[in-house]
Amino acid sequence: MAKYKIAWLPGDGIGKDVMDCAKIVLDTFKFNAEYIHCDIGWEFWCNEGDPLPKRTIEMLKTTDCALFGAITSKPKEEAAKELTPELQGKGYVYSSPIVRLRQEFNLRTNLRPCKAYPGNPLNYREGINLTVFRENTEDLYSGVEFHPVPKAVMDVLNANHPKMKRFAELPPEDVAISLRIVTRKASQNIIRDAFEYARKHGYKSVTVVEKPNVIRETSGLMLREARKIAKDFPGTKLWETNIDAMCMWLIKNPQDYSVLVTSNMFGDIISDLCAQLVGGLGFAYSGNIGDNYAVFEPTHGSAPKYVGQYKVNPIAMLLSVKLMFDWLGEPESASRLENAIAKVIKDGKVRTYDMGGNSTSLEVAEEVARNL
Ligand code: NAI
Ligand code: MG
Repeated sequence: MAKYKIAWLPGDGIGKDVMDCAKIVLDTFKFNAEYIHCDIGWEFWCNEGDPLPKRTIEMLKTTDCALFGAITSKPKEEAAKELTPELQGKGYVYSSPIVRLRQEFNLRTNLRPCKAYPGNPLNYREGINLTVFRENTEDLYSGVEFHPVPKAVMDVLNANHPKMKRFAELPPEDVAISLRIVTRKASQNIIRDAFEYARKHGYKSVTVVEKPNVIRETSGLMLREARKIAKDFPGTKLWETNIDAMCMWLIKNPQDYSVLVTSNMFGDIISDLCAQLVGGLGFAYSGNIGDNYAVFEPTHGSAPKYVGQYKVNPIAMLLSVKLMFDWLGEPESASRLENAIAKVIKDGKVRTYDMGGNSTSLEVAEEVARNL
């Protein structure tokens, strides 16, 4: 029996192209794993009314972790129109499978490493080696929103907070409220994950990125918990910055930072900023990590205009495989793969279009495999 069972989720569009590239590399490795192909994506929405069928969730529960390509998502009304005629008008509502996976398996930590590999013509600057820890389950993404705001909600807020006064008399349809919910437990989890990662990988600092001078309660809670947890990690410095200033520092001196930890919305924004510093979508990858399960994926989407052309950069997908090796506790495999990818980038002979070359995705994967 294979040592690992890995769920194989190509999804839609170029998700399939880049997963084929992952397979080339994993096969060369002779990695001791069995790959379980699972249904996910647009065709299952159209034909079954569910882009993440129950059988897929049940199958995932029998695996150690998942590799995921990309999915196509469309706005609610557009999605409904593409259902097969038998399913039209029966109340099916599209919801993003990746968001549902995060909830179903409590994948509470979103991990986004961003490294400037030498020789990458898309690097903003040499020497960047950042890892963003983004809380993945709450904050403005909790989905607790009101518009129009029910009178009962307005009344409660008005009765309990003096600063509500200037909004209290407005008509309900002229006010929208999205709650930023941050819990102590989720804050502790993400901050501890960040510190443990910094210690394990030898990074000297963890920077908590919030805005506690203005958003006193939610950002304040994150910061207070960070200060407490930092005491358990005497070898790692805690740095504190505001999200707005952090965006400036990341352009000015990105090499000074290593591990960044933040809440969901700020994390969404700075992880894209960090990814662009080291080459953009062809290099941006992530792990969605819980206590017992994880899903690894490039952060790009299904790029419909390139479907089946093997044109896009597979490096983000291959680095997702590297991150999976790390998480599975296979550090030798992780560094072998990373070194092979780094060599292909440095040699610069085999490059996809985004790096100024004209090689195919498959040629890049084969070149990485040759270097293993
Ligand atoms: P996208 O990431 O699919 O593509 C945007 C553009 O970026 C592409 O046209 C291409 O020029 C470039 N690009 C993307 N990946 C690349 C790669 N590996 N190498 C080189 N260039 C690359 O974003 P878009 O076009 O906004 O969305 C397309 C579909 O993907 C939508 O249905 C969207 O909802 C979905 N999506 C899914 C995500 C996921 O599966 N996690 C994330 C983002 C979007
Ligand atoms: Mg994003």
